[in-house]
Amino acid sequence: MSSFYALVIGASSAIAQAAIQQFEADKDCLGVFAVSRSLPNSETATKTQWLESDYSEDSIQQICKSLSAYSGKISKVLICNGILHNSMMPERKLEEIRASQLEAIFHTNTIIPMLWLSQLLPILQGEQATQVALFSARIGSISDNKTGGWYSYRASKAALNMLIQTSSVEYARRAKNVKFIAFHPGTTDTPLSKPFQRSVPKDKLFTADFVATQLLYIMGSVTMDNKAAYLDWNNQPIEW
Ligand SMILES: NC(=O)c1ccc[n+]([C@@H]2O[C@H](COP(=O)([O-])OP(=O)(O)OC[C@H]3O[C@@H](n4cnc5c(N)ncnc54)[C@H](OP(=O)(O)O)[C@@H]3O)[C@@H](O)[C@H]2O)c1
Repeated sequence: MSSFYALVIGASSAIAQAAIQQFEADKDCLGVFAVSRSLPNSETATKTQWLESDYSEDSIQQICKSLSAYSGKISKVLICNGILHNSMMPERKLEEIRASQLEAIFHTNTIIPMLWLSQLLPILQGEQATQVALFSARIGSISDNKTGGWYSYRASKAALNMLIQTSSVEYARRAKNVKFIAFHPGTTDTPLSKPFQRSVPKDKLFTADFVATQLLYIMGSVTMDNKAAYLDWNNQPIEW
């Protein structure tokens, strides 16, 4: 593989952290830009440069401007942002629907990733095969909704999937070497899944390190065909 730079957005995510460690160990990786709402207390990683963002349009624009020197050189992008619960737990029934919860979850899970796709276009226009993995979830599949519930989270990921599909149509014209992956990590042992882990069999609860390994393998081997792919941790396609 030729040398590359990586951009990891939502870098405090446990899976993002594991991916950053793997980029650090990859001799072909020249550097990692890690974007997060808060910077780590101490920085031990040598290749990784941390960038603080509140994910406002202005902040995303500023960061993309500062990355413009790396246009065409950043060829691995992970957009990890996502929340399932905050002060409220996922809705189990219609009576639990609150506008504030729908808005907060859509903002983090759908709007923020889309703002990045919008601003990253000029940076990703280049000759190098480039993969952009956006953390979706199987629950965002409209055709695979058998259990119902979790309205905000489910709908935010379904909407994210549509924005990924739609962006991939435009990127195919304007940034031909980019492949979007809507990625389902599987249930992974992170703060996001903590309240729901009791019902998950041990062998179905993945470590962040395992999921990062799977994702980086998938990004390295995916077919570059200008079409968005919806893939799980095992590289299996999910029906949209
Ligand atoms: N863990 C699972 O079982 C599982 C299953 C399916 C899908 N996923 C998806 O995988 C992704 C990574 O999740 P994780 O499990 O690694 O969770 P995590 O460790 O809890 O990470 C949370 C992520 O969300 C971002 N975030 C949290 N609150 C935010 C806010 N108010 N505004 C903007 N960004 C915010 C964080 O970014 P900062 O660095 O800026 O804090 C970080 O990237 C999510 O999109 C999640 O939906 C996870």
